[in-house]
Amino acid sequence: MRRILVTGGAGFIGSNFVRMILGEQPDCLVVNLDKLTYAGNLENLASFLEHPNHKFVKGDICDGPLVADLIKDEKIDAIVNFAAESHVDRSITEPKVFIETNVAGTLTLLEAAREHRLERFIQVSTDEVYGALGKEGLFIEDTPLSPNSPYSASKAAADHLIHAFAHTWGLRCNITRCSNNYGPYQFPEKLIPLMINNALNDKPLPVYGDGMQVRDWLYVYDHCTAIWTVLTQAEPGRTYNIGGCNEKTNIDVVRTILKHLHKPESLVRHVTDRPGHDRRYAIDASRIMRELGWKPSVTFEQGLARTIDWYLGARDWLDSIVSGDYRNYYESMYDNR
Ligand code: NAD
Ligand code: TYD
Repeated sequence: MRRILVTGGAGFIGSNFVRMILGEQPDCLVVNLDKLTYAGNLENLASFLEHPNHKFVKGDICDGPLVADLIKDEKIDAIVNFAAESHVDRSITEPKVFIETNVAGTLTLLEAAREHRLERFIQVSTDEVYGALGKEGLFIEDTPLSPNSPYSASKAAADHLIHAFAHTWGLRCNITRCSNNYGPYQFPEKLIPLMINNALNDKPLPVYGDGMQVRDWLYVYDHCTAIWTVLTQAEPGRTYNIGGCNEKTNIDVVRTILKHLHKPESLVRHVTDRPGHDRRYAIDASRIMRELGWKPSVTFEQGLARTIDWYLGARDWLDSIVSGDYRNYYESMYDNR
């Protein structure tokens, strides 16, 4: 049996990954270490909390002794590190915790992985480490790192640490760099769920600047299958871009959501742009397709329709989030913008 330590498995992508493994890989035990920050939510794992192949542990990836004990006691052979502070806007107002979790936390995991000679360490990184593109071109795995936000700088620092541990001590690592994910259970601070939630409540949809920024959208389930493919098939040391080949402007995404929900375009509100806003991300994912045979299973149109349907059926989940601290967050981020 494979025994993996998944960190951040109560967040958006991590919980999708945990559910996928428990549903599809009967020979895999998941120990799920999550601090349950504002973004971590055990409701994301609801019926899977009692699954015999799942053990949830509330804790911090910066806690070295805890991580070491888990690796020893649970006989872990691989780590998949999703745990992170993940929102660019929050990194602009409060960068310190991004360095603590994304850099120091990753270092703690790496030290434990080295000490216990783990079979594999997968670092879930982001295309944002490459910086921004102009109108043309795609990020490839060899594009130099040039991060622009405190979030992407912290993720790039972690990527450098992964490389250093692989180079210096031969730790068997892979870095995956994916584009913007969307799908069920995404916290409604990110573009797509925020716009769905606002539209459902007939609230203005805050589009930063002209809305012509481009993101390359990846359905979360497809991201999870890509990570599993890397974990089980990749040679150590290889980095893989993961993308859905779905470049869209933000305003197009917002208009499509409104159309699905039969809401008027007059809800769109152009607001002050994000400082240092990266204009365009776009990923060349041909390496993982060519070397490991992975490909996305849905188009953006199919994935978005599924996502909207999921949010329509998950009003309780959404309401329980937006009725709590989220309200204060929303006011501080969007009032006076
Ligand atoms: P998320 O914010 O939804 O979830 C992060 C999870 O990590 C939460 O459950 C949180 O409680 C946990 N966490 C935070 N700090 C922790 C700590 N110190 N110790 C233990 N747990 C901690 O994030 P997400 O969108 O699911 O992203 C997961 C990973 O994927 C991140 O590493 C992120 O950088 C990367 N990524 C995300 C996207 C995207 O579009 N969402 C794109 C590219 C890369
Ligand atoms: P986001 O989901 O925060 O992801 P990232 O910044 O990591 O790409 O934002 C996606 C795009 O949507 C980005 O260009 C910023 C923009 N955006 C808005 O226009 N309005 C919003 O309220 C949010 C949250 C994002």
